[in-house]
Amino acid sequence: MHNARMIREDLYYVGASDRRLNLFENVYPIPMGVSYNSYLLLDEKTALLDTCDRSVEGVFMENVAHVLKGRSLDYLIVNHMEPDHGATVLAVMEKYPQAQVICTAGAAKMIGQFFDGAPLGRIRMVKEGEKLCLGKHTLAFYTAPMVHWPEVMVTYDETEGTLFSADAFGTFGALNGDLYADEDKPDFGEMRRYYANIVGKYGVQVQNLMKKAAKLDIRMICPLHGPIWRQDLDKLLGKYDLWSRWEGEEGLVIFCASIYGGTMNAMERLASMLSERGVKGVKLYDISAQDKSFLVSEAFRCKAAVLASASYNAGVFVAMEDFLHDLKAHDFKNHRVAYVENGSWAPSAAKTMKAILEGQALETVGETVTLRSAAHEKDAAALEALADALCAAMKE
Ligand SMILES: Cc1cc2nc3c(=O)[nH]c(=O)nc-3n(C[C@H](O)[C@H](O)[C@H](O)COP(=O)(O)O)c2cc1C
Ligand SMILES: [Fe+2]
Ligand SMILES: [Fe+2]
Repeated sequence: MHNARMIREDLYYVGASDRRLNLFENVYPIPMGVSYNSYLLLDEKTALLDTCDRSVEGVFMENVAHVLKGRSLDYLIVNHMEPDHGATVLAVMEKYPQAQVICTAGAAKMIGQFFDGAPLGRIRMVKEGEKLCLGKHTLAFYTAPMVHWPEVMVTYDETEGTLFSADAFGTFGALNGDLYADEDKPDFGEMRRYYANIVGKYGVQVQNLMKKAAKLDIRMICPLHGPIWRQDLDKLLGKYDLWSRWEGEEGLVIFCASIYGGTMNAMERLASMLSERGVKGVKLYDISAQDKSFLVSEAFRCKAAVLASASYNAGVFVAMEDFLHDLKAHDFKNHRVAYVENGSWAPSAAKTMKAILEGQALETVGETVTLRSAAHEKDAAALEALADALCAAMKE
């Protein structure tokens, strides 16, 4: 049974959702599933914009056939060749032998790499700003390297002001009937987790894409994951602008890595001190108990972060070590951070944390607090001083 959806008389959603996949890219939990979006334009010529993941190939192919209603497919536009979108490119080329593939030179090379025997002669490579007229609609192609792979381009329908934005502006979460972001409360938490983990490292490249987008009259954004945006585009672009500059949005987060509970005990007290000083909405995480993708997202969200950890083998507790390497891999910067360490014989956590983050433009708040084995009443003064410094930093 097909599940294609009409967007306009001549534009259809032909993608599909996966609710079974446990880990997206075999690493990110997706408790609410994920959608693989694909769009079909019917003009004098027909054009399919991206294909789908192999897991939804059946319904995707059925959707395409249903919307074409026997017409031939003239163009397959490949904006991104990562397999969550490109896995069924060869299947589409085989089923629609007249279709010409439109993509960047980088994507053309990847089609050859992913598929043995792909008919590469049917590929037409396009460059920045090149256009394709389908009849009523004229499509313009803009490269978007590293958002999220090097071969990425986005497609702008000049006639309707629709941007087919590839992975940009996407989110985790299957579609649940609603096709547009404005039909439900947009889940910026999941959008941020998607952004931070998938595209987060490439803020500079996202900024470049935003500069290109600013010159276009965009009335609708059709991403490759999640709902379509036709309202509140300013809000969406505003979030992307903040995230891609690594600018925190709001709040203070305490990331705590504790083996026996001593460091956590102190952080519970610090959280109370902050609340008493008027810093509300603090989130305190035991980072061993949370999936890293949520923690990275929280780090992107917050204005200031406390990094608190037990020492471990002359270094820092492994959960914190992993987390900080992940943050660094996403080029985490432009935030305020405070350090708390704990150790029973030679505390080494703070030094190690600072060494991992060295070179990242981070502003240190307050003095490093060092605990010895447990949290003692005598440590309260140092925690109070840190709470004061954090409180002042949050007010700036
Ligand atoms: C495998 C292992 C390695 C450790 N290495 C160090 C260390 O290098 N330096 C140190 O001062 N404490 C070290 N510790 C001790 C803990 O850091 C210390 O007991 C700390 O107070 C624990 O804080 P917590 O109660 O928050 O887990 C180690 C503990 C474990 C289990
Ligand atoms: Fe991707
Ligand atoms: Fe994707």
